[in-house]
Amino acid sequence: MNILVTGGLGYIGSHTIVKLLENNYNVICIDNLCNSNEDVIEKIKKITSKDFKFYYGDVNNKDLLTKIFKENKIDSVIHFAGLKAVGESVKYPLKYYKNNLNSTITLLEVMTEFNVNKIVFSSSATVYGKQEILPIKEDSTLHTTNPYGTTKLVNEMILKDETVANPNMSVVILRYFNPIGGHESGILKENPKDTPNNLMPYIIKVANKEYPYLHVYGNDYDTIDGTGVRDYIHVCDLATGHIKALEYMNNHQGIEYFNLGVGKGYSVLEIVKTFEKVNNVKIPYKIESRRPGDIASCYASTKKAEQLLGFKATKTLEDMCKDSYRTNND
Ligand code: NAD
Ligand code: UFG
Repeated sequence: MNILVTGGLGYIGSHTIVKLLENNYNVICIDNLCNSNEDVIEKIKKITSKDFKFYYGDVNNKDLLTKIFKENKIDSVIHFAGLKAVGESVKYPLKYYKNNLNSTITLLEVMTEFNVNKIVFSSSATVYGKQEILPIKEDSTLHTTNPYGTTKLVNEMILKDETVANPNMSVVILRYFNPIGGHESGILKENPKDTPNNLMPYIIKVANKEYPYLHVYGNDYDTIDGTGVRDYIHVCDLATGHIKALEYMNNHQGIEYFNLGVGKGYSVLEIVKTFEKVNNVKIPYKIESRRPGDIASCYASTKKAEQLLGFKATKTLEDMCKDSYRTNND
């Protein structure tokens, strides 16, 4: 089976390529390196001792996509490519709409031309906005609070409309909760190019003494210790979810939506304490005011993914904290 992976050199894509190669899929990857590095290719090869094809370029480039589909008999697509920084999307909405929507449209046009009908799409728990009822189920109401989130929601709509127009299509929408961690070899991990906005990459910078302390955004939420609660999932578990999605598409048509999370929430201070314990390192922090737009708690109902995909996350919070910080020399 030949799988085209867009954005495959990024954080989640690279861990998924490792899983794909380990499961004997052939991988063809396209990435424009706007948020990743070419050295990830060698890292993936080192971990798996397997090879894959890489095309440098943009998913918005129809000629390049056409060339890729001509040169390779693609069976399914996993579409990770996209910009993902919430704050940046508020500042530059058009950049986000242009990149994240045009890429999917172009990809679908070329897929249609080559009669490729199976696609897994990277969506996000951000499409649920603020939910009162937890755990969050896939059929909850959807609304977004920033342009990044809106690109995810509109992408879901585009894919749904395409499925109606073409009944042969099989689409799996994966709504990720909070991916953290890295490959257990320490070779592959999240490597943000700019100042990290997300909790775990920021904690790592503090652990490495690049930043003096962690800003904890609010301790007056209605949660176990007042700090924000999220559903953190190990990126290698998330990668397995994509293998399950590919298997699901082999005998299902139409569109289906799945949460990928652990189903349990942890607070910021629980993460800090666990990280300190398993890595034997101090994470100084200061409590600050709430970050605008944040919610108190968010965690997934994992039932649907368990029942229909046969997917269940296996890694513990300890694993996640350890594998986030692990170095190659461990
Ligand atoms: P990432 O930035 O590490 O990876 C995205 C990759 O896509 C990068 O390698 C980037 O260079 C590439 N890319 C972006 N636009 C492209 C384009 N037009 N053409 C070719 N390549 C392009 O991000 P990630 O964390 O691996 O996320 C992957 C997907 O999952 C994204 O769609 C993201 O929105 C979604 N997602 C991520 C999270 C998260 O917390 N990491 C949560 C929910 C959803
Ligand atoms: N937090 C801090 N300090 C930091 C960073 C985060 O205290 O430096 C707190 C936040 O206030 C929140 C929790 O840590 O309570 C998690 O914050 P993240 O920024 O890591 O994650 P979010 O849940 O806010 O958002 C992430 C992605 C979104 C995505 C969402 C759901 O950034 O794009 O998960 O998938 F939509």
